[in-house]
Amino acid sequence: MLLSYIYKEVLFEKDLKDKKVLITAGPTIESIDPVRFISNHSTGKMGYALAKICAYRGADVTLVSGRCALPAPEFVKKIDVLSAEDMFNAVDKCFRDMDIIIMSAAVADYTPETVADKKIKKKEGDLSLPLKRTKDILKYVGENKKKGQFVCGFAMETDDLINNATRKLESKNADMIIANSLREPGAGFGTDTNIVTFITPGKTHRLDLLSKEEVSVRILDEVIKCTQ
Ligand code: CTP
Repeated sequence: MLLSYIYKEVLFEKDLKDKKVLITAGPTIESIDPVRFISNHSTGKMGYALAKICAYRGADVTLVSGRCALPAPEFVKKIDVLSAEDMFNAVDKCFRDMDIIIMSAAVADYTPETVADKKIKKKEGDLSLPLKRTKDILKYVGENKKKGQFVCGFAMETDDLINNATRKLESKNADMIIANSLREPGAGFGTDTNIVTFITPGKTHRLDLLSKEEVSVRILDEVIKCTQ
């Protein structure tokens, strides 16, 4: 605790002082019934590292987090959510007030059409579950951002990384997409490292394998460069 106050004071220049930063992190959980849910492999490590480094660099940080096993980063206001809808509502409440918005959460694209209020009992034969689309939070924020707000999303792909991520930059009206491939060892879910490519309009820049904290430092360097 004391050590983190010292780190916060000495490790970084306070180049995000007076900036309000919103970060989403972790997975969403879409309930099927009181027992079961649909989710994904996100652990929140990337978003939590970003939140920590942002706070160390002097920002006023709000972290909207899906269910993660990680300790809450210090010096950060954390809002816990479960579902994609909860995350949408939490982001909608505060994003207009933010200077920088970074969406690293792995949000479910589909949720069960209805949530059973009792445990679904098994029967003979197979079961199909009707799913409906969730709201795309990054797209909503991108479409509703004000002048001066910087919006950064992530793209996790298994194939055609750069083309898919560049399409997301355009379709979600983001200012930057951090692309990573699930096919590369050391990148993606649950690891302490990542290999990312920054995609901004007209430019792509790939970084080598780095720790998620080091990746966070580099992402924030790039965000600051883009907003100056
Ligand atoms: N995202 C979001 N809301 C959703 C889905 C995704 O805000 N309902 C955000 C993620 O936080 C991430 C970015 O969109 O910053 C890209 O997420 P990804 O899952 O890679 O892309 P999708 O939009 O789901 O597209 P696709 O299914 O085509 O890969």
